[in-house]
Amino acid sequence: MAVAYRLTVLGTGYLGATHAACMAELGFEVLGLDVDPEKIASLQRGELPIHEPGLEEMLRRNLATGRLRFTTSYEEAAEFGDVHFVCVGTPQKKGEYAADVSYLDAVVESLAPHLRRECLVVGKSTVPVGTAQRLADKLALLAGPHVELAWNPEFLREGFAVRDTLKPDRLVFGVASERAEKILRDVYTPLGDVPTVVTDFPTAELVKSAANAFLATKISFINAMAEVCEAAHADVKQLSLALSFDERIGGRFLNPGLGFGGGCLPKDIRAFMARAGELGADQALSFLREVDAINMRRRARMVDLARDLVGGSFHTRTVGVLGAAFKPNSDDIRDSPALDVALTIRQEGGAVTVYDPVALNNVRKVHPTLGTADSALTAVRNADVVLLLTEWQEFVDLDPEAIGTVVNTRNIVDGRNALDSEVWRAAHWNYRALGRP
Ligand code: UGA
Repeated sequence: MAVAYRLTVLGTGYLGATHAACMAELGFEVLGLDVDPEKIASLQRGELPIHEPGLEEMLRRNLATGRLRFTTSYEEAAEFGDVHFVCVGTPQKKGEYAADVSYLDAVVESLAPHLRRECLVVGKSTVPVGTAQRLADKLALLAGPHVELAWNPEFLREGFAVRDTLKPDRLVFGVASERAEKILRDVYTPLGDVPTVVTDFPTAELVKSAANAFLATKISFINAMAEVCEAAHADVKQLSLALSFDERIGGRFLNPGLGFGGGCLPKDIRAFMARAGELGADQALSFLREVDAINMRRRARMVDLARDLVGGSFHTRTVGVLGAAFKPNSDDIRDSPALDVALTIRQEGGAVTVYDPVALNNVRKVHPTLGTADSALTAVRNADVVLLLTEWQEFVDLDPEAIGTVVNTRNIVDGRNALDSEVWRAAHWNYRALGRP
């Protein structure tokens, strides 16, 4: 390691817990801080409250060496750190599209009065453009000129958090001085040769918003094509495959289906819309509004397809739902398209039973009255229609004959275009999918 900086990570949610463990893994001494004492106690015991492959082992390894520790004390963090990474959440405000950045302000207000020596505070959270400059001004006021701010957005995906942190596609440094750039370059030296863009605060903030907006756009684009395919009796899966061979287009994030959910893409695109509106960038705003609307229409379309298959109404009908997480290999159910569909059908009178390989505990915690089952087979027992809503490998591998023996009627809607339609039809299933004949 080039320079032995001591790092703190302020906020130990998904992003913070990952960043703290990965930085310790790279050889730094790291102190993680959170205002939630229970979260800190569980991390200090080596227990991770989220499902993330490889992260818990990494956490335990680095706790054991003593390189990684956790605290709730800002005073201790300020004393300890040369570089403070701010990783708190920026959720959607209640009843609004805008992002709530109050946790960031709270971190700056809690940390600044204790900062007595030279240090760099580095924002990693996803924020509306303009936030970094405002926080830099606040920091200068509360802490003094020996403390500087930089903005370094994070692009990790859930399910690949460790890999994405240790092997990022690129690094973006929003800095106001060469000193800040040098510190960030030093900190990330152990990652090797990573393409790095050094820029100003607003550009760094916008790179993150734009990246998520682009991914959302790509998904909504293929889902808009799915709408056209449905009307024209064409097959969007084959269309997507044919598009993907054009290297300028590429096949990733071009899977048609139920659309995007989770704790990031939906809220980030809405926060981006709100900010674009404030800035008077009205065409950007209407463009993004359409991306969001196409995404939400897929959920409604899924419910329509399922309702048609059971005769026009869910009353007295049994619906087996496969999948609850917003994507496979995750236990995250925030803004999950799968759960949204399940809850809508239940509201329309359907008897819904949900199974998910990993996310069931979260479903039972957040929606205690929703029917759940401990296996795919139990979830679809006596079903009038089966809905595949999250493409876990376990569901892709299902034997249509075996589950055909427990359902009431062999109706299936493949909300993720994940199954082999010919195999299911050969087993006498009425197979339907979004965007396909
Ligand atoms: C997303 C971005 O991919 C990360 O780069 C970013 O750092 C992160 O948000 C964030 O801002 O923190 P993540 O929320 O983990 O990561 O999930 P994705 O893998 O992007 O999937 C998002 C949603 O899109 C899922 O519901 C998934 O099922 C859906 N999706 C994805 C599709 O419907 N079609 C596709 O082709 C791909």
